[in-house]
Amino acid sequence: MSRASIEIRDVSHVYKTQSGPLPVLDNLSINVPKNAFTAVVGPSGCGKSTLTRLIAGLLTPDIGSVWLFGEKVEQPRATVGMAFQNPVLLEWRNILQNVILPLEIVGSSLTANQRKERARHLLALVGLEDFEDKRPSELSGGMRQRASLCRALIHKPEVLILDEPFGALDAFTREDLWQVMHALRKEEPFTGLLITHDLRESVFLSDQVIVLSGRPASTQYILDIPNKGERSLDDLYSPDTIQMLNVLRHQIKVAQDRD
Ligand SMILES: Nc1ncnc2c1ncn2[C@@H]1O[C@H](COP(=O)(O)OP(=O)(O)OP(=O)(O)O)[C@@H](O)[C@H]1O
Ligand SMILES: [Mg+2]
Repeated sequence: MSRASIEIRDVSHVYKTQSGPLPVLDNLSINVPKNAFTAVVGPSGCGKSTLTRLIAGLLTPDIGSVWLFGEKVEQPRATVGMAFQNPVLLEWRNILQNVILPLEIVGSSLTANQRKERARHLLALVGLEDFEDKRPSELSGGMRQRASLCRALIHKPEVLILDEPFGALDAFTREDLWQVMHALRKEEPFTGLLITHDLRESVFLSDQVIVLSGRPASTQYILDIPNKGERSLDDLYSPDTIQMLNVLRHQIKVAQDRD
């Protein structure tokens, strides 16, 4: 077993709200090995996005700790890439300039030409090679999400955190993007944590699915996905996958009933 890249160690967190303390995470522990992809599913409002903020260093847990590659997370880090449900692209920049933006913010040893080269390489991988001059509003929702994935990967992050990145897309576009994700990982392996409500997505993209209990969230169930190699959309209709989806559906139901 390789060393954990993302390690959530006995984390509990309580938000202080006007109506009193709101416990969201309860003694949660998660390990994502290097270059593995873990999906996290759970009832709405159970604390999944809170978890992503803890990993990104935007929030510090009340109890427990978060570690990335053996280093305790105490502030936001440049080595984490993030993508969300609604990609926020800047309208006054074209797609190429949007993808390059993190290198300008965080700083980079690459020259202007090398930055462009890297951005073009990623855009080609996601099928946007002909759209680098377009403004975000000229792209479809799926294309914007592709560009946002390129932007999240431009600085070769150690870990990529995806919070329902495909949730707003139609089913066919979503499936296209699942394949894009596999292509990106094959080209440049990275460690990933994916929050999703789509069980098929969790099985297709990840090596391990963690089902969280209702709020406050703790680990309710862990499903290891065999066949970590090439995957095709046809696999989603295999008896093995259907069996896994049934198990996950059942576990989500148990989590919701606990809510
Ligand atoms: N900054 C905050 N202050 C107070 N309460 C918060 C804050 N952020 C989130 N919450 C509350 O914490 C709980 C967990 O929120 P979170 O966004 O982590 O859930 P989630 O699992 O991502 O939900 P969803 O599946 O709907 O995206 C919710 O009840 C939410 O209202
Ligand atoms: Mg959320």
